[in-house]
Amino acid sequence: MPTILKSANLPNLRIYLLESTVLRDKYATEIDTLLARFPQKKSAILHLMHLAQSEYGYLNEAAMREVADIVGVDATHVLSLAGFYSLFYEAPVGRYVLEVCNDLACALRGADEFVEMASRKLDIPVEGTTNDGLFTLKTVMCLGGCDRAPMLQCNLKFYENLDESKFEALIADLRARAATPEPSVVERIIGYAQEK
Ligand code: FES
Repeated sequence: MPTILKSANLPNLRIYLLESTVLRDKYATEIDTLLARFPQKKSAILHLMHLAQSEYGYLNEAAMREVADIVGVDATHVLSLAGFYSLFYEAPVGRYVLEVCNDLACALRGADEFVEMASRKLDIPVEGTTNDGLFTLKTVMCLGGCDRAPMLQCNLKFYENLDESKFEALIADLRARAATPEPSVVERIIGYAQEK
């Protein structure tokens, strides 16, 4: 029987202690360059988790195990970080992840109604992904934009003081942008690792 690690925050996620070298095989030079930028390997862990998530599509067991091996920590450490940060996903997501804060302060400014509207417009439930693979809708805890709710984070960018028409405009803009190539997370991390 393999050892299985579990996260309280990501209850569907299990880490089976399997060996994977996908990242090291593909990005050996970039990973070495990235690690060299930090006094301790461990400090590069979030960059490597983003790299792994982008490469694997989400943080599956093999991805987390490999990141842990690269930086020399226990896999439970990676698992706990993945559970803490909403930007790490335990299942495949769309190209644009719409993370709407519906924590208390935002709820008082209409976040729950906003989520319902977004769900209706996209025709997906919370945690669902549109059939074209473009959008995933999520609800998250406080993002620090409480006085500008309803607000959401999408691929590291905040959109605040939203309403139905602004949401429709955002979706239309993201659909248009999807037609043009953008630097991937992998490319951005590798670019950072190679900066002088
Ligand atoms: S409660 Fe939503 S951003 Fe703070």
